[in-house]
Amino acid sequence: KKVVLAYSGGLDTSAIVPWLKDNYDCEVIAFVADVGQGAEDLEGVEQKAINSGASSCYVVDLKEQFVKEVIYPTLKAGAVYEGQYLLGTSMARPIIARAQVELALKLGADALCHGCTGKGNDQVRFEGAFAALAPQLKVIAPWREWEFNSRQSLLNYLAEKKVPTTATATKIYSRDANLFHISHEGGELENPWNEPSEQVWMWTNSPEQAPDKAEYIQLSFVKGELSAIDGKAVSGVEAIEQLNKAGSIHGVGRIDIVENRLVGMKSRGCYETPGGTIIVAALRALESLVYDRTSLKYREEVGLEVAQLVYDGRWFTPLKDALFAASNSLAEQLTGDIVVKLYKGQVTVAKRRSPNSLYSEAFATFDGDEVYNQKDAAGFIRLYSLASRIRALHSVKE
Ligand code: ARG
Ligand code: SIN
Repeated sequence: KKVVLAYSGGLDTSAIVPWLKDNYDCEVIAFVADVGQGAEDLEGVEQKAINSGASSCYVVDLKEQFVKEVIYPTLKAGAVYEGQYLLGTSMARPIIARAQVELALKLGADALCHGCTGKGNDQVRFEGAFAALAPQLKVIAPWREWEFNSRQSLLNYLAEKKVPTTATATKIYSRDANLFHISHEGGELENPWNEPSEQVWMWTNSPEQAPDKAEYIQLSFVKGELSAIDGKAVSGVEAIEQLNKAGSIHGVGRIDIVENRLVGMKSRGCYETPGGTIIVAALRALESLVYDRTSLKYREEVGLEVAQLVYDGRWFTPLKDALFAASNSLAEQLTGDIVVKLYKGQVTVAKRRSPNSLYSEAFATFDGDEVYNQKDAAGFIRLYSLASRIRALHSVKE
């Protein structure tokens, strides 16, 4: 029997390899998704997997797909979970799960395995994707089966199995990183009365330490996607990397939230999304120029729906296609330039322009103009307030 494991090289998935062989008497194939988590995580990961007892290890670069198929559509939909979370972890799961399924089908595997705990969202996202793409494959979720309950117990097990590891018992935070964001949970963060210490944050400077001089960056968008930064053409992956750097220097994109997990419990997390935070601010500014009032309200509604769908792991559904059809269609208009200003943890918009702008100085001015006749407003207001007028007439009669 063959099992394809979503492997990261961390302690949990390192222990899963021998555990699967012990408990399922199977061959274990390690699958590593490169979603831009960084060279440190990927370096030597194949050897690590083999050392753990995997028969082979496949590292697949998913960065381009991640940006094209997930990050941009989700950004264009304006999806933000519970008012703040830009969904960095949630978004990566369907892309990882799909590539894992593809590998399993190619190799004729019997089962899929992941290292998510039984308490979180990620298990639902992985298994939701598995169900949609390969319902015939068995799913193994060791965290819901085994008795290990601490890093020390996993380390003891690895020692027993003679698997070398550099992991230690004292790792404080649970982190998840990709091109778009890094999340931090656990440790002192489990008490929401504790302010996160500076060692929580991995990517961004604290706003206090950030430079005293603001930085201006010009972002050019075509149909809601970045085409150039400061006039230089950029690919999707480059754009996010470049803005991550700039945002990190200026302490942009930190959030610290208590969120509702899909499985019902609340959890506290600190997330860093520097580039994403800058892009979101710029897209909002572009929308404000280009979308009329009802389009903007509709995009906000779609954004709420998409946020929930992405968070809840309902990626491979007809609803996803329907929602993105709407938001991508609106976003066709999002072409233009935005100049953002980064300063001490904040991103603000300094300048905006678009060939599709509905804003017109000539019409907004209080002087006379061609399209807006002030006399028209009187009739508009009479009809707009007609129901109020009739209601008031009733009470006068009584
Ligand atoms: N709470 C966030 C989410 O549900 C982050 C999860 C982090 N996942 C992890 N395996 N460390 O999307
Ligand atoms: C996990 O429980 O595996 C990570 C956190 C989450 O999925 O919400």
